[in-house]
Amino acid sequence: MKDINVAVDGPAGAGKSTAAREVASRLNLKYLDTGAMYRALTWKAIIENIDFQNPEEIINLAAVINIDIKNGSDGSNLVYIDGIDVTQEIRTPAVNGKVSIVSKIPEARGKLVARQQKIAEDGGFIMDGRDIGTNVLPGADFKFFLTASLEVRAQRRYMELKEKGCNITLEDVKKEISMRDKIDKGREVAPLIAAKDADLIDTTHMNIEDVIQEIVRKVNKLKAGRT
Ligand code: DC
Repeated sequence: MKDINVAVDGPAGAGKSTAAREVASRLNLKYLDTGAMYRALTWKAIIENIDFQNPEEIINLAAVINIDIKNGSDGSNLVYIDGIDVTQEIRTPAVNGKVSIVSKIPEARGKLVARQQKIAEDGGFIMDGRDIGTNVLPGADFKFFLTASLEVRAQRRYMELKEKGCNITLEDVKKEISMRDKIDKGREVAPLIAAKDADLIDTTHMNIEDVIQEIVRKVNKLKAGRT
């Protein structure tokens, strides 16, 4: 029997990646951070001085880019482009500022989505992103949509960036997240929206361990109901 696939969607800072990575380890699933693929494409476009106003250039790059995702020892995804580790580079404010422009181009999305579907075709994955439950894996066995207030999401991202030594203000992080939310929700193809059959979890007042336990409990309960 095919192993289960789990979709975890939601806006930036809702806790998706941290929760999905840990749920993967507790439920013996493989983890794929699809946002890292959009980030990798964006980083490469910046390095190659691609004109972000010209979608053709991004689409051409998406057709040839060689992205490889491996699992790190802590279960996180390590991201390689042409064999070079860019895991840290793709999380900078420069990439944050441009990634929503790249990810609203339908043809560029198509390339990455096909890759994501291929990766998960045999099951056994928990994938996080914006359109996993609606578009990438509409037949996923379990779907979760994580949300949190803008204030809390911005504060979480701000702390992460501070820990990495980024010189940025909370106000700037809030503006950047709010702008990305707007573009991600408003785009025509695969916008950020909860799948009709997704389980909504508001993480505003939850710590990450609570979120992980809730997902694990729900998946286990549903799995038990199927046997
Ligand atoms: O999850 P993240 O913040 O690393 O994602 C970065 C951007 O990538 C996000 O602003 C929108 C885009 N993205 C997307 O459009 N679809 C996905 N499945 C994942 C991410």
